[in-house]
Amino acid sequence: MDTGDRYRRFAEREARGQSPTYERLARSVAEDAGLLRLLDELPEPKRQPNLLFAAVRFLGGPVDDPDRFRDWVTAAWPEVAVTMLARRTQTNEAARCAVLLPVLARLPQPLALIEVGASAGLCLHPDAYRYSYGDHRVGPAESPVELSCAVEGEVPLPDRVPEVVWRAGLDLNPLDVADPDDLRWLTALVWPEQHERRERLRAAADIARAAPAPVHRGDLLADLPALAATAPRDATLVVFHSAVLAYVSAEVRAAFAELVGGLPGHWISNEAAGVLPGVITDVPPPDGAAPFLLALDGRPLAWTAPHGQALRWL
Ligand SMILES: C[S@@+](CC[C@H](N)C(=O)[O-])C[C@H]1O[C@@H](n2cnc3c(N)ncnc32)[C@H](O)[C@@H]1O
Repeated sequence: MDTGDRYRRFAEREARGQSPTYERLARSVAEDAGLLRLLDELPEPKRQPNLLFAAVRFLGGPVDDPDRFRDWVTAAWPEVAVTMLARRTQTNEAARCAVLLPVLARLPQPLALIEVGASAGLCLHPDAYRYSYGDHRVGPAESPVELSCAVEGEVPLPDRVPEVVWRAGLDLNPLDVADPDDLRWLTALVWPEQHERRERLRAAADIARAAPAPVHRGDLLADLPALAATAPRDATLVVFHSAVLAYVSAEVRAAFAELVGGLPGHWISNEAAGVLPGVITDVPPPDGAAPFLLALDGRPLAWTAPHGQALRWL
């Protein structure tokens, strides 16, 4: 697929219905020979629409008008290219905790949490957020972050948040919510119309800054065993991840599943359907945006919406 097709496909399959701003921009980039030539100077994985649009917003460029966007990007290309080469798409969505919570709460407490692919670690604080599953509410009433999740089926709704006594993240490129540039980058990754997500990011970042959980630089395969060995023995170890394994090869996914299966404790995965080949179900997914499959120790439990906004128990 050439770069123009990639932008056309992004407009049609990802931005349409979600972000009129990005849909318009992506369609315009797809037809713009000058911008496509610039993008093609970058390595193939760095030509992504999300990366370009976030880089331009990060640098203060305009995204509301395709002509102004083209002129600005063309003039500022060296700076845009440096940003795209240095940064990655690492959206961190605290709301994914809403689909993890019913599983975390059922495990023997207390918990020691390891999140692989943690980005800035916002999903390492499931005990700090308030949740509403329809009219079922749980979590600290004073929390500034409220996560709403629509539920279907026999979801085992918890009465309390889990007791977390230890937490740590692992990421190839950890982001630091205490670093203004990293926080600005995380903010630029949220699409322009997603005001609620931006507000949630700001509030969740405040929580993470106040009670930092370490996110170590490392690879989910090579560096997980050493990190797991530092977890306290008197708590249930839970290794979890969401929206991460799509970034690694099929061989790495299989090796990771084997590795984590050999660790003590439990493994929670929340990944796009098909990403973990052994994690499958006959129950058809709900309509709408490509769903994720939530699984405990490789056994599917629920279909989930990609940003944690819905949970359909199998
Ligand atoms: C889309 S973000 C998801 C962040 C977080 N899990 C969430 O749900 O909000 C994917 C993260 O996985 C990380 N990642 C990708 N490949 C990895 C690897 N091999 N080892 C560790 N982290 C990885 C990326 O750096 C990025 O921060």
